[in-house]
Amino acid sequence: MSENREAGGGRREAQSVVVLRARNIAKTYQEGKLRTEVLLDAGFELNRGETLAIVGASGSGKSTLLHIVGGLDTPTGGEIELEGRVLSKLSDAERGRVRNRSLGFVYQFHHLLPEFSALENVAMPLLIRGTPIHDARDRARALLDRAGYSPVFIHNDAVPGMARRAHATGAGPAL
Ligand SMILES: Nc1ncnc2c1ncn2[C@@H]1O[C@H](COP(=O)(O)OP(=O)(O)O)[C@@H](O)[C@H]1O
Ligand SMILES: [Mg+2]
Repeated sequence: MSENREAGGGRREAQSVVVLRARNIAKTYQEGKLRTEVLLDAGFELNRGETLAIVGASGSGKSTLLHIVGGLDTPTGGEIELEGRVLSKLSDAERGRVRNRSLGFVYQFHHLLPEFSALENVAMPLLIRGTPIHDARDRARALLDRAGYSPVFIHNDAVPGMARRAHATGAGPAL
């Protein structure tokens, strides 16, 4: 797997602040006798506002690395520091709070709640962190609007694509 820091896209702020640091990340899957070493010594630093593309062949471990970086999976070695907090040292509840506040994921497959409307799905991360319902709905409406979502659909069932992007940015995450 190779890393590719985009020359033009990676914008550095005047004073660079590291929001994400991955150090010596290893991941080995063990299924019975089968041992798959997916990540051996993966590491990078990402500053606020910077764009990083992780490029690699299918099966090379991109999703595995992203899940580990996002606190959705645990590495078998190394550590992830997100906004100065080492994920492995947090309790599940604390890790959940950090994910709620600091991370937005645009998933390859949509993980939206089908029983809620697009508006409610986008507002969900804000409601979870205690934003008053009125403010959360206003912000969700503005984000869906910015994502090009027709007002006609906002109260309908969640539609993938635009709703996923709006959902990922709904809580104004650092990443
Ligand atoms: N839960 C799992 N158990 C065992 N092997 C896995 C598991 N998840 C992924 N793998 C293996 O890890 C490797 C990397 O997978 P993945 O991270 O999905 O790659 P990519 O996203 O780059 O296509 C693949 O060989 C895959 O079969
Ligand atoms: Mg993948």
